[in-house]
Amino acid sequence: MNLDEHIKQVRKDFQADIEACKDEKGIQDIHVKYLGRKAGIVTHLFKELAKSSPAGRPALGKQINDIKNFITEAVESRKQSIKLGSEKKSFTDLSLPGQPQYIGRLHPLTLVQNEIISLFEGMGFEVATGPDIETDYYNFEALNIPEDHPARDLQDTFYLNDGRLLRTHTSPVQIRVMESCRPPVRIIAPGRVFRKDTPDATHSPVFYQVEGLYVDEGVTLAELKGTLLTFARALFGPKMNIRFRSGFFPFTEPSVEYDFTCIMCEGKGCSICKGTGWIEISGAGMVDPAVFEYVNYDSEKYTGYAWGMGVERIAMLKYRINDIRLFYENDLRFIEQFS
Ligand code: DAH
Repeated sequence: MNLDEHIKQVRKDFQADIEACKDEKGIQDIHVKYLGRKAGIVTHLFKELAKSSPAGRPALGKQINDIKNFITEAVESRKQSIKLGSEKKSFTDLSLPGQPQYIGRLHPLTLVQNEIISLFEGMGFEVATGPDIETDYYNFEALNIPEDHPARDLQDTFYLNDGRLLRTHTSPVQIRVMESCRPPVRIIAPGRVFRKDTPDATHSPVFYQVEGLYVDEGVTLAELKGTLLTFARALFGPKMNIRFRSGFFPFTEPSVEYDFTCIMCEGKGCSICKGTGWIEISGAGMVDPAVFEYVNYDSEKYTGYAWGMGVERIAMLKYRINDIRLFYENDLRFIEQFS
């Protein structure tokens, strides 16, 4: 290969090299390979020029100078563009749209529980709490629930190995509160309860209740009705009414089951209330004197009313939800609809 051909080959090689070059290290290598003072290809071309015949030297010399300038400029501009590219990555572009932040919200049951609490607080009730793990004494015995009551059955109650149990209702909080303070007592006790139920549209092995208790001198069942009616109207509107049907609970005497006006048909009768115009809510009654005995309250002097309430039941009515399991599956598409 003569020098003229060699120069052309060097230009081709260089172009291929620079095109393939991606990073600073690559461009540095190319710089050394072509422009290195001692062993660079361009230096080598000059050495060959010195050995070539004097006649052709000026023209070849110009070619070599041209290619040297070409390579120097190309290497320099490639260096710049590589440097710019890497700097670009560390820039923050303030005009880019922001990253959306996912904002959590309260669970529908928490929302409804909070609403129930604040309505009763407005009527002078204070919040009391008790443990999820209870003893037989608080969950059953002191509530006058007899030894052979079906609720005590292994089928219905989760027992721990040490004989304690997961409370099956919030009523034991009544006992704990009455043990620790004297009348007047006016509390609500929201909390989680547990029953050995197979989940279906209306049953869940874990659910929430709000217990209520008011003990003082001269407390009557009529006052209970007034309290629950005020609550029902505040929650569901002024058209609500309440009705008591006679019922039975070991810890109240008399005991009632209470219903609210059906919120779907406003009492006219529909498929939801099975034509009755009423929706069953829960149980209530006057505290049984036998319960007062356990907490050393004088049942000659004091009377009291108590009620239970299922938070899921209220939430299902309020939000028109027909399956209790939805509250516990934590499907965001469901949960996100409440705020
Ligand atoms: N503890 C009852 C239950 O879980 C509900 C209940 C009924 C609570 C009557 C009361 C009451 O305070 O007086 O089914």
